[in-house]
Amino acid sequence: MKLKVGVMFGGESVEHEISIISAAQAMAAIDRDKYEVYPIYITKDRLFYSGDVLFDMDIYKDLKALEKKATQVTFYRKGNGVVMSNINRGLFAKETNIDVAVLVMHGTNGEDGALQGYLETLKLPYSGSDVIASAVGQDKVIMKHILENSGLPLTRWFWLYSNDFTKDKDMYVEKAKDLGFPVIIKPACLGSSIGITTAHNEDEFVSAIKESSQYDRKLVVEKMVRELKEVNASVLGNATKHKVSVLEEVYKADNEDILSFDKKYTAGNGKMGAKGGNTKGSGASKGMASTARIIPANISDAATTYITQLASDTFKALGSSGVCRIDFMIDGESNDIYVNEINSIPGSLAFYLWEKSGVNFTELMDTLIKLAIDRKRDQEKMIFSYDTNVLSGFKSDSFGNKKR
Ligand SMILES: Nc1ncnc2c1ncn2[C@@H]1O[C@H](COP(=O)(O)OP(=O)(O)O)[C@@H](O)[C@H]1O
Ligand SMILES: [Mg+2]
Repeated sequence: MKLKVGVMFGGESVEHEISIISAAQAMAAIDRDKYEVYPIYITKDRLFYSGDVLFDMDIYKDLKALEKKATQVTFYRKGNGVVMSNINRGLFAKETNIDVAVLVMHGTNGEDGALQGYLETLKLPYSGSDVIASAVGQDKVIMKHILENSGLPLTRWFWLYSNDFTKDKDMYVEKAKDLGFPVIIKPACLGSSIGITTAHNEDEFVSAIKESSQYDRKLVVEKMVRELKEVNASVLGNATKHKVSVLEEVYKADNEDILSFDKKYTAGNGKMGAKGGNTKGSGASKGMASTARIIPANISDAATTYITQLASDTFKALGSSGVCRIDFMIDGESNDIYVNEINSIPGSLAFYLWEKSGVNFTELMDTLIKLAIDRKRDQEKMIFSYDTNVLSGFKSDSFGNKKR
């Protein structure tokens, strides 16, 4: 029997649309001789839908039509497994067993541990990092604390709650001056460069904080690398066994301070919503695979070796698993190398890096599914409950009033 794989994507996130593209690419790559694929689309309102119509990219352009043609579903445990069932069941529930979930969600509610927690509760194996690693990877403040404590190199930084800024403005301005302008301000828990601002002096700093505060209560302020080279690595595996891909170098336009959302996802022909979907259509929107890049990165062998090691160390320090992308910054003035961030579920699942590393997309999906199942097996070896007679010492009236 083929394993039934539920591919989850969408969700209430600013990266909703990017996730649809990544999922279309991933579903097309999964080996149908081994796996049966069930698309599971989560709307921005957190409704779960399934059905074959979800293989067609055009359906996402018209949510009303999607809601009519696809089936709203829910999940529950039944026997030893998890079933997906239609919500509007009339007389009958149409139940499908799902053996493993492949998560192709980006950003809040999908990449940050929330969905992972739900799947843990269901005891449904899922691809990628577990609850804690996902949560840590999504919060730049916590991530930086861990990386710093693990001895990994970071640009100088501090963080603040936006609420505190108005109270202690002078103190924070001093802190920014101490880092030295220009600085870059990032909402702690977003992604895709959304809400990121830069400041070249005190006045700009005050307005930049205001601007970024609209996106998160928690903000990171970092010293800005002026002559920036951005190099990324993907890591595939788990804490005990993983490998690092070849490195890529990504580009921003000369007139841009940072690699913007548009630049990341819509370079070249990568506009959302093009045809392609389920098939390996060349016209499919390329998502993260469309960014301007060089593979392998045009850097020295020594820098490549160092970054490869840092990628592995970062993956381990954060407790990650599955396929991640770890982003680095090289300061062209000093040649210093910094870890910037981890993307626990990277755009396009970083397949374009693995293709250049001898792992094709189908093998990548196969590995992700296997890692998910292995983790579940490992968990099952752990002791989560044991027999006790604690309840025998409880009197039957110990809960007091039995009325609701
Ligand atoms: N310290 C920095 N100096 C210069 N540019 C930076 C710095 N940090 C981030 N950037 C730029 O901003 C982009 C987005 O920042 P990043 O931390 O990766 O946030 P996100 O999670 O939104 O991708 C990076 O790809 C890079 O172009
Ligand atoms: Mg980034």
